[in-house]
Formats: sequence, structure tokens, C-alpha cells
Amino acid sequence: MKKIIDVEVKTRTVDFSRCKTDLLAVGLFSDAEGMDKLTSQLDSKLDGAIERLIKSGDFKAKEGTNSIIYGNDKIGAKRVLLVGLGEKKKSSLDTIRKAAANTAMKAVETKIGTVCLALHKAFGGKFDLSAVGRACGEGIFLGSYRYDEFVTASDDGRLDWLKVEVIDYDSTKTKKLNRGVVCGVIIGRAQSYARTLANRPANVISPAKLAETAKELAHGNKNLACTVFDEKQMAAKGMGGVLAVGSGSQNKPRFIILKYSPAGKARLPKVYGGQAVNKLPTVALVGKAITFDSGGISIKPAAKMEEMKLDKTGGITVLGTMKAVAELQLPLNVLGIIPSAENLPSGSSYRPGDIITTFSGKTVEVQNTDAEGRMILCDGLNYAVKQNCDVTIDVATLTGACRVALGKYMAGLMGNDEKLIKQLQRAAEESGENVWPMPSGDEYAEEMKSKIADLKNIGSRWGGACTAAAFLRQFVGDAKWAHLDIAGVEMFEKPSAFTAEGSSGFGVRLLTTYLMNLTDLR
Ligand code: BES
Ligand code: MN
Ligand code: ZN
Repeated sequence: MKKIIDVEVKTRTVDFSRCKTDLLAVGLFSDAEGMDKLTSQLDSKLDGAIERLIKSGDFKAKEGTNSIIYGNDKIGAKRVLLVGLGEKKKSSLDTIRKAAANTAMKAVETKIGTVCLALHKAFGGKFDLSAVGRACGEGIFLGSYRYDEFVTASDDGRLDWLKVEVIDYDSTKTKKLNRGVVCGVIIGRAQSYARTLANRPANVISPAKLAETAKELAHGNKNLACTVFDEKQMAAKGMGGVLAVGSGSQNKPRFIILKYSPAGKARLPKVYGGQAVNKLPTVALVGKAITFDSGGISIKPAAKMEEMKLDKTGGITVLGTMKAVAELQLPLNVLGIIPSAENLPSGSSYRPGDIITTFSGKTVEVQNTDAEGRMILCDGLNYAVKQNCDVTIDVATLTGACRVALGKYMAGLMGNDEKLIKQLQRAAEESGENVWPMPSGDEYAEEMKSKIADLKNIGSRWGGACTAAAFLRQFVGDAKWAHLDIAGVEMFEKPSAFTAEGSSGFGVRLLTTYLMNLTDLR
């Protein structure tokens, strides 16, 4: 079995042209007239090779493209990688993140182990250097990530390590960059952790195994605690939703609770100065973790059913975010709640027509066993709001309808609190994990009423993402709540110029950014 690539990202103060490395990455805009100062300095040492390349038209600096120029004895780098940044006026922090990812892709493909990044120089002072460092750290993890742990017969010879340095010749600049890099590495690594867990198939990760993984995560961090309810404990508590969905599988359901609280007096992370902080908000994150969704008795068609191993992604996003929060030691309290079950058809499965009493006491008529996500989330959400958190956010691969509505580029964002929605939209912009607001109000809730129970678990044909969210809304009472439907964005179908195919780890950057913003960290 292959080892996950061991990635390290640091900063260093060094002269760009003297920097000894296998690959020095610099950015180039497609619409910029002339090169920035750094690139033209390098170019003169390379006897105009960069200029000749650009003039030839072989490299147009579009986003997602790159070109290698080989070094000479006048520069320290063996190779210079020109990374396309696209149009300057369209550039954002995500441009840097993607450029770093594209560089890491190239390094892994060409089996290059040491890389220096000077991508930020092309942007001049457009962005705060700490934010730039963070984007670089996150991007390197994004681009170098590979999921091949079960491949035994490959001879691609990829390295199992990558060492990256974000460099500047000015030590005050490297210091600012470093603060971001430290955070970016934590967030990037947490996202890769989430991708690996999500990519693992259902015969490897059952609800019990996911619970063990959460316990391991908590054991490794003194500010994290993990409690797990097994099926008997859930029965005693009346968590009828999770139990119903899990009843068809021999792999019994679990209710996983991770609690993060900063030790002693809450402080800003060390790289941010470590000052004490007084007000500690409590945020609950609730994630859907269906380890496999066959649809149950309302079974799905065979085509692409294997993708439903990714139906645990929401829960894993919560796990990854908890890992990031704990390593960043953020000054707030976070509760991670992960109801987990396997949705299979069998003689003991829940059936269409069943009426289930959920943890909240509300009854639900099951009309389709494939609408199982809401059946476990209603218990998770109701448990969360009973803990009196300031806000509750759930994340779930909830509906095919959301994928149809928004495609692969945005997660659906619903909720009952304007301010929370705005905060999540801002975090989405900063993290490059995009969201789009969708409704979930009374009209939609009306469709979820049952004649023989309080609610039913499916609505009409139309607006499936909205009716699903409206169903969830019934379980949060007056608590501030937001819902992220990640069914469209949970995976990349194909490898891109920025990252490998499979689980995207969507939400780890978004939610961690949201939590960092709550504590005013940039
Ligand atoms: N896990 C699926 C949603 C999904 C679909 C995620 C495609 C990722 C990709 C969910 O449990 C589901 O089956 N939803 C049904 C709901 C329907 C029965 C109301 C759906 O979307 O068809
Ligand atoms: Mn389903
Ligand atoms: Zn599902």
C-alpha cells in the first residue's frame, strides 16, 4: 500500500535568483504588459529565455497552464516554472491558491521534491501577505494530493514527500507570509485528511470505523474530546431517525460527538500573537455521514452507485474542520456532531410507509428510504440545538436536486439567519469554496407535511434541495441555523490542472475560514 504524500510548506528569506531548488515557481498574468520586476530580473539572468517563450506564443499564461524553463549557472534554481495566472483584473486569492496547486501538480507529476514559490510577487501589493501565505499553503496540499493507498501494482515512481518553501528576499515579508503559511498548512492538511477518509470505500469505513477514527483524532489533540453513542445508547435516547436509516445494515449506526474547547484561558493562535480572548462563541457543526447510500428499499439504479461511498462527506468535512480548529487552537468552542449510518436494503430495513419518532419527538412518515440524509440530520440538528450553541451549521450531500440546480461549482446555502448567511458567503469568497443562496421557507415546508404524521420525508418533484432544507428547518426551532448542501461539489469527476479526482474535501476550508473570521483572524 502506498503512503500518502508527506507535504511540508515553510517560508524562507532568500534572494530569488540565488535560491537553490529543483523548481522555482513564478506567476505570470495573461494580460499584463511586460513582466513584473522579479520575472524580468530572472529573465535577464536566463538570457531572455522567458521573453522568447512568451513571444513564441507557446505559453499564454492562462490559468491552469505552466511552462518549464531550465536554469543555468547564473541562477540557483534548476528549473523555473512559469505559472499562468489568467487575467490580472479577474485575479483573487483563489488565483494564488490555484497557482500553488498547479505548481504542486507539476512537481508530483515530474517527481520533483523541492520547490520554491515566488508566486506572490506578480500581484504586487494587491493582497495581504498573510492571506497569500495561507492560500499558498492550502494550494500546495490541494495540488499534491493523491489517493492511491490501495494501489499495489503501480510503477509511477512518484515521490512520497514534497518540500515547499514560500520565499521572499525581504524578511518582514516572509514573516507575514509565514503566519499565513502556518495556518494554510494546517487547513490544507486537514482537507487532505478529509479527502482520504471520504475516498475510502464503505467496506473500509463503516459507522463504527468512522467513530473510531474520530476517537483517534481526539486522542491526538488535548483540546478535543470524543463521545460516541452506539445503537443501544441511541435507542435509549430516542434517536429514531438515525436508527431507522441504520436498521438495514449489519454495520450498526453511530452518533459521534466531538467537542473542541481551548485549554485554560482562550488565546489567539501563537502565530497571531497569542493574546488572551474573552468572549467565546459556541458553534455546532453537524455532518451527514452515510457510509454508503444504496437508497435502501427505495433502491437506487446501478449506474454510478459506487459514488455513494461519498455520502459520508458532510460528516467527514466536520471531522476535518475539527482537526483544523484544534490544531489552530482557535479561541472558540466547537461541537462536531456526526450521525452515521449505512443505508442498505434487507429484511430489517426501514420501509416506505413507516412512521418514525425522531429525537425531537416529531414523527415522520417515510415515503422514500433514499431520502435518508434528512432522517439522520434531523436527530443530529435537534441534538445540536439542545446544547444551546450560538449557531448551528449542517453540511450534507443531501440532494441530487442541488447538483442539478447548481452544478459542480457551488454548494447550496440555506438558513434562517441573514447574518450567518452573509458570514458564510464571505468565508466562501475567501476560501474559494463557493456557495449560492437558496430558499427553504414556508412554501417549501408546507410540502413536507404528512396527513398521518407531523412530517413526511419527501416533497413534490420540484425544488428538491429546498424542500429538503425546509424539512431540516423544522428541527432547529428558533436557533440560528445554516445548511450547506454539498451534493454537487463533494467530488471532482476528473483530475484538473489543480487537483486529483475523487473527494474534494469541500467545506473544510470554508468552515475553518468562517470560524477563523469569527475570531477576527486573517
Ligand atoms: N445522497 C443522496 C443525494 C446525492 C445525490 C448526493 C447525488 C450526491 C450525488 C441522497 O440521500 C438522496 O438519495 N437524495 C434523493 C432524495 C429524494 C429521494 C427525495 C435524491 O436526491 O434523489
Ligand atoms: Mn439517499
Ligand atoms: Zn444520501
